[in-house]
Amino acid sequence: MITKEQVLQALSNVEEPDLGKDLVTLNMVKDIEIDGNKVTFTVVLTTPACPLKDMIRNACVNAIQLMVSKDAAVQVNMTANVNSNRKDGKSTLPKVKNIIVVASGKGGVGKSTVAANLALALSEGGASVGLMDADIYGPSVPIMFGVRGERPMMVNVEGKGMIVPLEKYGIKLMSIGLLVDEKQAVVWRGPMASSALRQFITDVYWDELDYLVIDMPPGTGDIHLTLVQTVPVTGAVIVTTPQDVALADAKKGIMMFSGPQVNVPIIGLVENMSYFTPAELPDNKYYIFGKEGGKRLAEDMEIPFLGQVPLVQGIREGGDEGVPVMVSNDEITKKAFIDFAGNAARSIAMRNANMAPTKIVEVAV
Ligand SMILES: Nc1ncnc2c1ncn2[C@@H]1O[C@H](COP(=O)(O)OP(=O)(O)OP(=O)(O)O)[C@@H](O)[C@H]1O
Ligand SMILES: [Mg+2]
Repeated sequence: MITKEQVLQALSNVEEPDLGKDLVTLNMVKDIEIDGNKVTFTVVLTTPACPLKDMIRNACVNAIQLMVSKDAAVQVNMTANVNSNRKDGKSTLPKVKNIIVVASGKGGVGKSTVAANLALALSEGGASVGLMDADIYGPSVPIMFGVRGERPMMVNVEGKGMIVPLEKYGIKLMSIGLLVDEKQAVVWRGPMASSALRQFITDVYWDELDYLVIDMPPGTGDIHLTLVQTVPVTGAVIVTTPQDVALADAKKGIMMFSGPQVNVPIIGLVENMSYFTPAELPDNKYYIFGKEGGKRLAEDMEIPFLGQVPLVQGIREGGDEGVPVMVSNDEITKKAFIDFAGNAARSIAMRNANMAPTKIVEVAV
């Protein structure tokens, strides 16, 4: 007779590698059922995009067959409850578990493309996801998602009129480009742009989300400071191309977020436009902007390297046509984004387990 105690005892030897503790201590094992030699239970991961899923499943099966019964037929169900480390239930966007900014330093390196496909990849993994376009001067979300000209609805939340995000491809979307005339925003100057952004953030009704991905404008300016002072940012994903000029600006971005003034954790760095592979020569990689510059920068700055995204015509076309590559059938390119999103989700989960609660930044400017 196999007992639940034996199963738990065996699983207390299985470590969640990122969190450095065993599954039982972390309270990740649920719903154990035993029927003869059939053992079924659920492991609740900290993110549905967890790249270690298969490894953890195999470790569970091995532990039970080794320590309980070699004839046990083990079925491990995997679910996820995305972790969060917000302790500020009353502050801005209280029901959003993780607020992730996508930033670079240099313009045009692919922040908006990466932010959109990151949001879609996290959602494909089973998480509830929103994408906010914080680029006041050059919003991209309306075009990338083919929702230009659509106007969001309003809803009354506890006596306050709030903006309801649009929904497309399974994620919630909002861009200042959907609220104001496209020509109007470009004439805003510093303080006006900052107050527009602040109002925009607090007036959108995101409701419950596992991840809110924020697409930032280029640079390291006022808008960035306004954002970190308005919402408690969980962490920043930095985008760069392998080129020296982009790397120098990415470094500035990393220093701004991780510096003592702002102190937002860096989730990691993703290298975009890493190489080009022609369709007729699928084994060739051409390093047009230099090789692995992003990877080296991540090593130098001691931040996680989250992956490489190739230069692909379909990424550009998809962006222009309102069909991001994550909803296309280009499986090779999708895999690059899924791997990147998995690494990002993993880094976020570790950040939540190991670091101080997220809070709004108070900066003296
Ligand atoms: N990996 C890629 N392969 C091909 N084209 C890409 C790739 N990444 C981005 N692009 C294209 O490059 C252009 C710039 O990308 P994107 O708008 O995402 O950059 P950005 O960093 O958000 O720019 P900005 O600083 O203006 O906000 C877009 O036309 C986009 O479709
Ligand atoms: Mg952009």
